[in-house]
Amino acid sequence: MRNFINPSLSNIKPSGIEKFFDIASKTPGVVSLGVGEPDFDTPWHISDEGISSIEQGNTFYTTSPGLIELRNAIGGFLKRKYGLNYNSEEILVTVGGSEAIDLAFRALLSPGDEVIIPEPAYVSYTPCVLLAGGKPVPLVLKEENGFQLTKESLESVLTPRTKILMMNYPNNPTGGEMDLSHLQEVADFCIEHDIFVISDEIYSELTYQGIKHISIGSLDGMKERSLIINGFSKSYSMTGWRLGYACSTKNIISALLQIHQYTIMCASIVSQYAGVEALNNGDKDIEKMKEEYAKRRLYVLKRLKDMGLTCYQPQGAFYVFPSIKKFGLTSEDFCLKLIKEEKVAIIPGSAFGDCGEGYVRISYAYSLNDLRTALDRLARFIRKQI
Ligand SMILES: Cc1ncc(COP(=O)(O)O)c(C=O)c1O
Repeated sequence: MRNFINPSLSNIKPSGIEKFFDIASKTPGVVSLGVGEPDFDTPWHISDEGISSIEQGNTFYTTSPGLIELRNAIGGFLKRKYGLNYNSEEILVTVGGSEAIDLAFRALLSPGDEVIIPEPAYVSYTPCVLLAGGKPVPLVLKEENGFQLTKESLESVLTPRTKILMMNYPNNPTGGEMDLSHLQEVADFCIEHDIFVISDEIYSELTYQGIKHISIGSLDGMKERSLIINGFSKSYSMTGWRLGYACSTKNIISALLQIHQYTIMCASIVSQYAGVEALNNGDKDIEKMKEEYAKRRLYVLKRLKDMGLTCYQPQGAFYVFPSIKKFGLTSEDFCLKLIKEEKVAIIPGSAFGDCGEGYVRISYAYSLNDLRTALDRLARFIRKQI
């Protein structure tokens, strides 16, 4: 019998995150700080809108781009929060930010086109580029630059085939954020070299210490050469609702829609009605959850400092990315040993690209109680390594 599997799948490495979820699920008594998922219930008034949509019989397909009420609400939210200007035809409602990432690469890439992927990076970018026939080009971000992109770093990977720069700020896994001067430098570079930017801003609402996220799409000359991805999973604790969106010019959004209409048709109507409520009346929920994350962030950073671990002070998202280089173990071995000896699950930095080696990702989207237990165990583990 032939091998019926598409050979290009052999280029896709298994996710380094899934491996640790798997081990954690088979380890009784484990405390996991591995998952990048808010631990809060979806705010009730948002869930209630989803339930009402079912009660009122709104259980059918929507138009492929998404409910017009939702696209209008997304446009209003992005204008109010980030000064972005998108009308309803420039917005596509997707099944999470995940679908938007996949659609973007499939709609924009031709075989061999290069995509700059700053690393450490969220795990789906490289596989999605490969599946779309593109060529991922890793760019190593430096801790000493706050994991920000610089013109020099971009120049070092530029080739005549460079088509897209993938950006993700606030960043998973580093918690890094771009400041305005670096962002402007990147925008100028992309305009000069005719590069398109896909900006995954899924953590845009989660920034700390008075920092406000700036979207690259709001800078002069960038709307027409960028696609902004955002969603409901992180800011409203709605991961299971599977709702996100992509925004760009009408031309680019129509290209994504060509794929979306045949592969997905539309995002769930129930989730879309809940999404309208989230955007119109959910600001206070975001603030409440953010206050909680801010407390946890400070707690985790203090505990890591007390353990003698060096750690970049993250400015956004809900992750810390401390260095474990001094222990002389690979990040994977460190995490395997930690889960075996102390039943704490965290993610090896190598899951986010080769340059993540020597780091681990700890999520603080967990209760202070869980954080305390896990960090007590981590502290004991570290004492044993010295
Ligand atoms: C950077 C980043 N982008 C996208 C996603 C996917 O989010 P969604 O639930 O909207 O598909 C995640 C989820 O962890 C993420 O961390």
